Amino acid sequence: MKPTILVTGGTGYIGSHTVVELQNAGYPVVIIDNLSNSNREVIDGIERITGIRPEFVEADCTDLTALKILFDTYPGIKGIINFAASKAVGESMQKPLLYYRNNLNTLMNLLDMMGKYDVKGIVFSSSCTVYGEPDVNPVTEETPIKKATSPYGNTKQISEEIITDVINSGAPFKSILLRYFNPVGAHPSAEIGELPNGVPQNLVPFLTQTAMGIRKELSVFGNDYNTPDGSCIRDYIDVVDLAKAHVIAIERMLDDKSEAKIEIFNLGTGNGMSVLGLINAFESATGVKVPHKIAPRRAGDIEKVWANPEHANKVLGWVADTPIEETMRNAWAWQCKLRERDIM
Ligand code: UD1
Repeated sequence: MKPTILVTGGTGYIGSHTVVELQNAGYPVVIIDNLSNSNREVIDGIERITGIRPEFVEADCTDLTALKILFDTYPGIKGIINFAASKAVGESMQKPLLYYRNNLNTLMNLLDMMGKYDVKGIVFSSSCTVYGEPDVNPVTEETPIKKATSPYGNTKQISEEIITDVINSGAPFKSILLRYFNPVGAHPSAEIGELPNGVPQNLVPFLTQTAMGIRKELSVFGNDYNTPDGSCIRDYIDVVDLAKAHVIAIERMLDDKSEAKIEIFNLGTGNGMSVLGLINAFESATGVKVPHKIAPRRAGDIEKVWANPEHANKVLGWVADTPIEETMRNAWAWQCKLRERDIM
């Protein structure tokens, strides 16, 4: 029997896909989620895909008492994957304290519990946002960290520093920091996917909702950037590819495959794609048109950023290789499933 993994934020978008991959790899999973940006039906979807219903605790990771009860109830937890965090850049500018409180208290509580309950490793969801607007693309793990441009981004930088300080102080556990580029798509079964509350802020959910007719048209934020077609460039990575990297990271720590107590990996495809390029890929993959218009630039957007994923490719033996067309078809199938179920 493999050790139990605690997935915080496990009913969320990336969390739920990771729970599926962990269960497929034979790990028992306990999810803790406060359902602030997800719902409990996600657990049914996970069960339909894997045939296994993960343990679920509805609680907030900032609640230390709830965490203690959880660790007392599930003494077999040996690894944590921490997804529980607020993640909207714009909202973080309006409500910085909410972001610092949620994201940092959650992490500190988990680190506190790890020492007390003999947990061997924690995977932390970090972001390419720590590189800001890079001087050179693609970015490697050695690319300098730039001053954060939002409280959200700052919580990712501070979290990385907290983990590093705690580990360097001699804490008896390991950590892997995963810096995600832009996760998109959905599980190919269309049983789980991204379901943002309200009007989506991110490109792909807005795009699929527009294709469905829920939104009138997609605004392309800027066509005057210094890029081949003028729109911003990102590294869009399939969410299932991304989820699989977490299983490898957990295994690496729990099986002591590396001497290092703390490691950092960029998780991306290595391919930069523009906003207009992504719209094209969606249209050609699905045959569905996306009404769109050019709109002014969005404040705070980065012009271009994509990953050099060689470190993860070599060291983790992991590669994000799902073609973007397939990812777009999965995103569309998920949107269609939401319609079928009368959810969106
Ligand atoms: C940002 C952060 C990322 C964070 C994510 C969470 C960076 C580089 N990335 O991603 O760390 O996890 O927010 O929300 O800081 N776009 C449109 N129209 C839309 C929506 C988006 O044109 O309606 C464009 C944006 O201008 C951008 C691209 O699509 O160029 C991707 O945007 P989005 O999906 O919001 O992600 P990021 O801003 O890259």
